[in-house]
Amino acid sequence: MQRSHDLLKRFEELKEKVDIVPVFWNDGKVVWLNVTQIPWKEEYVETDSVDRLAEAIRRLEIRGAPAIGIAAALGIAMAAYNSPNNAEAIIKSSLEAANVLSKTRPTAVNLFWAIERMKKKIEELSNLSTEDIKDGLLTEALKIQVEDIEGNLRMGEIGDALLEDGDSIVTHCNTGSLATGGYGTALGVIKTSWRKGKRIFVYPTETRPLLQGARLTAWELKREGIPFKLITDSMVGYVFSNKLANKAIVGADRILLSGHVVNKIGTYTVASLSYLNGAQFYVAAPTSTIDAKSTLAEVKIENRSEDEVTTVLGKLRIAPEGVRALNPAFDVTPPQYVKAIITERGIATENLETSLKKLLYLK
Ligand code: MRU
Repeated sequence: MQRSHDLLKRFEELKEKVDIVPVFWNDGKVVWLNVTQIPWKEEYVETDSVDRLAEAIRRLEIRGAPAIGIAAALGIAMAAYNSPNNAEAIIKSSLEAANVLSKTRPTAVNLFWAIERMKKKIEELSNLSTEDIKDGLLTEALKIQVEDIEGNLRMGEIGDALLEDGDSIVTHCNTGSLATGGYGTALGVIKTSWRKGKRIFVYPTETRPLLQGARLTAWELKREGIPFKLITDSMVGYVFSNKLANKAIVGADRILLSGHVVNKIGTYTVASLSYLNGAQFYVAAPTSTIDAKSTLAEVKIENRSEDEVTTVLGKLRIAPEGVRALNPAFDVTPPQYVKAIITERGIATENLETSLKKLLYLK
């Protein structure tokens, strides 16, 4: 049986390869890099409170589909770890934590996937000693993180086959180390090709309204030394129609078996405009982002506060007092715009439904 110290050892090895990990375990606490403060400040926050962790996910101090799944898994392990030493109390507090964390954000399926995986583990371990339940839950949470990082590194290698020397690529939102267990999905693919010596140029969109592209992707690209020029979301059409970019790669919060891609608001614009102008549109995401159960009608799109649109990051009002605003955090890209979906198990392309099913080992 694997123990938490084995996973912690593997995590330390992987950390070397991925430059930055935005959320991690530290001796009964969850620690995260508060990405709302990037690029101004690198502030790490630590807590042993599930409510504080849930607040961090809600306020996007921890964000990005894989990262919030990992944070929730670590939060459940934390609730168990800090419980009194009796099986009933451990199970009760870990299930309560699962419930609190499941109410933080509705769209990214990785959150629910990770919580379900932890709940299954709670059931499996319930007859063991208290020490084994606590360590078993921590081991599972760390496994979720380690598998995510290893998957990202594999996805990078797999996706690299689709990128060519000289490519110029639009990306949207932030899909790098800051959004995952470490390294990244779409940005991970770009990093891998760049590290292998391909000359790549990137156009990250600023990603209104919360500027994950301008603040986070630009910060990561700069650290990596990848050449790029930041664009506003409204420049995407200009960039493709003037042939400044020949490809787009984005991440995903939920991918349906039909090939519909739910991702940061504005992704549909990038996809349709790349398609209209003959550029390839790729999605990179771990298989934990594929939702084999839901229909499109069942996907809940998160609506966030109107202030996020009427102000710049809550600091400067840009619309007259009392103006109402729409603020859906995600949109849906239909499969006809998606050239390929890159995962850690391989690439889904052509008939997306058939190839996604294959990647999930479904009939
Ligand atoms: O609201 P956010 O910042 O959590 O949205 C994140 C995205 O839409 C990302 O593109 C997606 O989660 C993929 S992250 C690897």
